[in-house]
Amino acid sequence: MRSLVEVEGLNLRIGERWILKNVNFKVYEGEIFTILGGSGSGKTTITKCIVGLYKPTSGKVRVFGKDVSALSQMELDEVRKNIGYLFQGAALFDSLRVWENVVFYHLEHYRMGESELRSLASRYLNLVGLSEEELDLYPSELSGGMKKRVGIARAIATEPRLLIYDEPTSGLDPITSRLIDELIVSLREKTGSTAIVVSHDLVSAFSISDRILMLREGEVLQIGTREEMLNSSLPFVKEFIKKGLGDFQKTGAG
Ligand SMILES: Nc1ncnc2c1ncn2[C@@H]1O[C@H](COP(=O)(O)OP(=O)(O)OP(=O)(O)O)[C@@H](O)[C@H]1O
Ligand SMILES: [Mg+2]
Repeated sequence: MRSLVEVEGLNLRIGERWILKNVNFKVYEGEIFTILGGSGSGKTTITKCIVGLYKPTSGKVRVFGKDVSALSQMELDEVRKNIGYLFQGAALFDSLRVWENVVFYHLEHYRMGESELRSLASRYLNLVGLSEEELDLYPSELSGGMKKRVGIARAIATEPRLLIYDEPTSGLDPITSRLIDELIVSLREKTGSTAIVVSHDLVSAFSISDRILMLREGEVLQIGTREEMLNSSLPFVKEFIKKGLGDFQKTGAG
């Protein structure tokens, strides 16, 4: 199997603190790979290393076969063009309309007319279950779930090989969360892209992932399939899963 992302012996120190400690994993082409862990465990930081926003203190991060920290700005831009990134909290531009948010990359990089851009935006909005009616709205006029969808539409609008979703279901009700899960799975079918999902939503992780990485305080505890994680013999992993799925059962969703 071909891997799109290879992380080897990744250590990251910020100030006096070691945020990531000897992190190793690979993400294979076509899979949905979830990074699971508590708040502050380093999940977002790993994705920032993947897109070259943080440079490893030591170790290597290879994306599409290229060592991210050894690239020129132009080469890094090319790698980033092939990565769609749903930022934690969706991070839409409040002063821009929905369509401008979705085709933001095209607005910045290509000379395309407004009608062409709007129809491109519609196409991606349709893929995430929104319609032309949303094109001219501002982010403040959208619900939390719609904002996530617009963020996802923006992430897929460059037709990237790799999609990174940082907390795609946080702040959403259980039903909307499951719809976003279905969207992530269906986009993998439709676009053939590979996905890294950052989450502390156990239900989501266990319904969509091919493999799961469990992170604690910057260290990888275990990587495995859903079954392997459910049968983990590590006390922390067992407890984390039991708590997360227990909360789910209590909400009565699903
Ligand atoms: N630029 C920075 N400067 C200082 N500390 C940082 C910086 N970026 C991240 N950290 C620290 O690194 C740790 C991991 O942060 P990170 O955002 O990766 O956590 P996370 O697992 O994504 O958490 P959450 O689930 O809350 O989003 C935190 O303790 C955070 O304070
Ligand atoms: Mg985070």
